[in-house]
Amino acid sequence: MAAAPAFFPPRPLSRSDSAGGAFRKWLDRWERVGFEDYQLSLTPRPRYRPAGRGGRAPRIEVSQYRVPMPGLGRDLDGLRIVHLTDIHHGLYFSADALLAAVELANSLQPDLIALTGDYVSYSRNFAHSAAELLAGLRAPRGVFAVLGNHDFRVGAELIARALRRGGIEVLRNRHTYLRAGAAELYLAGVDDLWFNSNLPRALRSIPRGRPVILLSHNPRIVAAAAHYSVDLVLSGHTHGGQVRLKIFERMRRENGGGGRRRFHTGWDALGRTRIYISRGIGTIVVPLRLGCPPEMPLFTLSARPAPL
Ligand SMILES: [Fe+2]
Repeated sequence: MAAAPAFFPPRPLSRSDSAGGAFRKWLDRWERVGFEDYQLSLTPRPRYRPAGRGGRAPRIEVSQYRVPMPGLGRDLDGLRIVHLTDIHHGLYFSADALLAAVELANSLQPDLIALTGDYVSYSRNFAHSAAELLAGLRAPRGVFAVLGNHDFRVGAELIARALRRGGIEVLRNRHTYLRAGAAELYLAGVDDLWFNSNLPRALRSIPRGRPVILLSHNPRIVAAAAHYSVDLVLSGHTHGGQVRLKIFERMRRENGGGGRRRFHTGWDALGRTRIYISRGIGTIVVPLRLGCPPEMPLFTLSARPAPL
């Protein structure tokens, strides 16, 4: 596995510097947990207040889609997949908010749940609670996960282990398959594109012509996925822009940015490969979403071809 870039957390000064014991202790702690354990009084309050205690649960939009899947046998027709991504459990996405999201996912009665990474933001202190809460996800066909760039920065092995302990199958450059009667569906997953992704390895030995869904945190995998004729890619990473102000959209268009940004949010396609990029449920940098509500897509696979 390639070593994670060492730009976060910032490297501390040398241990041999003249700082006293207290400063050295502070540096050690910073190295371990990052800034999330150093909330200042000026830091904005978390947007999501606890559910069930008079507070507000995150209002997550459930977007529902019927997805024709070429080659899908009738026995898997109607398979329901809930897609959950970019949770960023930490200072600004509390345990209560994550619990509410888990309950919402379960209430949709999915057959399978796909998690596409960024379970935490900066601190490994939240990795175990994220995994413990995600262990509450229920789907008879299983809960499958890939890792995002933040998971790699915080500790890919740590997070993968914690997820596995919760009964979640982590697809790290490999695939699995579902079978029902004569129908088969392959589910592949890759590590984050900026770190350790290996799509050829993830798809190796999948028989030609079988329906394949790929989980990839970063949607930029789409070019490679199209090369291998993957049917459907589920991604996150972009947060849909997170803060989308009309004025910025207009400025982008006026500066030649064209109409819609490709491979950024929602549905797109390259060749015969379709991709859905979810806005996810958490936030990064600022605990704020504008014009870009959190979402939890629900896909219903169809063995019938799309109407012309
Ligand atoms: Fe993210």
